[in-house]
Order: sequence, then C-alpha cells, then structure tokens
Amino acid sequence: MSGLPELSGKVAVVTGGASGIGKGIATQLAAEGMRVIIADIEQAALDKTASELGAIGIRADVSDVDSVRALAKEATNRFGTVHVVCNNAGIGPMAAIADLTMDDWHWMLGVNLYGVIHGVQTFLPILSANPDGGHIVNTASMAGLVAHARLGAYAVAKYGVVALTEVLAEELAAAGSAVGVSVLCPGTVHTNIGRSSRNRPARLADGALADIDIELEDNPVYRWINPEDAGAVVVRAIKRGDLYALTHPDWYPMVEQRHQAIAAAFRQQAADAG
Ligand SMILES: NC(=O)c1ccc[n+]([C@@H]2O[C@H](COP(=O)([O-])OP(=O)(O)OC[C@H]3O[C@@H](n4cnc5c(N)ncnc54)[C@H](O)[C@@H]3O)[C@@H](O)[C@H]2O)c1
Repeated sequence: MSGLPELSGKVAVVTGGASGIGKGIATQLAAEGMRVIIADIEQAALDKTASELGAIGIRADVSDVDSVRALAKEATNRFGTVHVVCNNAGIGPMAAIADLTMDDWHWMLGVNLYGVIHGVQTFLPILSANPDGGHIVNTASMAGLVAHARLGAYAVAKYGVVALTEVLAEELAAAGSAVGVSVLCPGTVHTNIGRSSRNRPARLADGALADIDIELEDNPVYRWINPEDAGAVVVRAIKRGDLYALTHPDWYPMVEQRHQAIAAAFRQQAADAG
C-alpha cells in the first residue's frame, strides 16, 4: 500500500485533536512540518491546544455528517486541500451489554463508528483528487482486535473501524490509488478518555455507560504510554503505508488467543463434518 514518505508542507486534519492521542498525533505531525488542523467538540480545550501547537482549531462534532462536511470545507478553503486525515475522536465509557440503553448505543456508535465513517466519506474524495495522494488514519483500539467484558459497545464500534479500514485498504490498492490507509490500535495511553462523559450530548442522556478510570485499576497487563508515543507510531505508519499501527506489540498473545480459539472451532467443525 502507498505511504507518504514526505510530510513537510502538507496539510493534516486530526479529529479529537484537543486532547490525548489526537493531540499526540497533531504534535508529531506538526514536528514533521505539516500544516495541522485539529477538530474537536470541546471548544475551550480546542482553543488551548491549537494555540499550544500552533495549529488551526475548528470545532466539529464527528457524529454529525454535516459538521464533518463543514470541517472539510473550512480546511480546503484555508489550505486548498488536505493530505492526511486522522479520524481519531472517540469516547470510552463502559457498561455490560445487558445494561445498555439505545441512547448508549447511539452515542457510542455515533462517535466511535459513524465518526470514522463520516471522516472517510467526506475526506476520501479530497485526498483522491491530490496528484500526490494522501493518507487516512482511523483510530480503533486493541479492543478492535480482541473484545473484553464492559467494552461491548466500544468493541462493536472498534471492530467496525478495523473492518472498514481493512476493506478500504484492499479497495484502494486494487484501484492503484495513491491514497493509503492505516488503522491505529492503541493499548493503554495516558489521556482523558476516563472522563468521556464530559462530551455526552443531552439528547442521548439516558444510559448506563459510565466513565471508569482504568488508570486506577491495578491490572498488571496494562502498560501505559504517552500520547506522543502513539503519535510517533502514526507518523511511521503514514510514511511507510502500514495497514496496522500498533503501540503495544507485547499484547499480541491476547489476539493470538482469540485466533487460536477460532482456529480450534474450525478444526472441531471439520472433525464433526468428517
Ligand atoms: N487512551 C487509551 O488508552 C486508548 C486506547 C485505545 C484507543 N483509544 C482511542 O483513542 C481515541 C482518542 O481518545 P483519547 O484516549 O485520546 O481520549 P481523550 O478524551 O483524551 O480525547 C478524545 C477527544 O475526542 C473529543 N471528542 C469526543 N466526542 C467528540 C465528538 N462527537 N466530535 C468531536 N470530538 C469529540 C474529545 O473532546 C477529546 O478531545 C479514541 O478513538 C479512543 O477510543 C484510546
């Protein structure tokens, strides 16, 4: 798949760029000499981070396609085009599937799945029209590769983001496109995700999803990295054209265990049939 080895002077849009991983990505893209636009739903944090990074801040709600279209229009009006889009904005509250309300599902899928869909639908034609192509980075999670209790709604969205990105990569490659795509699957990163409910819309207020600060949980599996480290992984993936951008290679055994369970089921089925 095509990568973008030279980023300097090109234009990037990072959603959820006011905080956490998005801010880390924006920091690293700016360090590469890119002209960076950060988009976020939180105006005060957006203004603060934009001035800190010397980036342009544009308020946008990724769950609303019209808002994402307005973001793209403002970005292209300002810079003429966009080369790199990081569909990163997201939320991470938790609840058991049995307790979820429809407001919970709509909030979670609206931001974490439709937010990425809106970004791809809106920006892919802009990137495809560039003579030198472009790159899309969709933020999923390790929970897009292996699912755990309390993360049902989150994992449904993140598995969707992984699938969307894998299929898009295959289609872009088959078309000989100069646009590449990566899916970022971070492990545990120090961010504000444990306070996601600050951005829950009043119209979807009825729910069981709750903020749980897993930084307070004494789980030996967790290895915490900083957002800038995740940003550096993203820069490498864009330059090389990597499909999978991973921050925690040491977590592979979790994914392998899932694959082994699926392989065992296939063997069992083959034995039953034979
Ligand atoms: N922190 C982790 O350990 C971790 C691990 C795996 C994946 N992720 C993913 O990383 C991404 C970034 O999360 P983070 O951990 O940096 O959290 P964060 O809360 O620090 O940053 C998320 C940003 O998204 C913004 N946002 C929320 N809803 C929005 C909306 N509707 N429209 C536009 N912006 C919106 C928030 O205001 C915030 O600035 C998310 O997609 C998350 O699922 C995080």
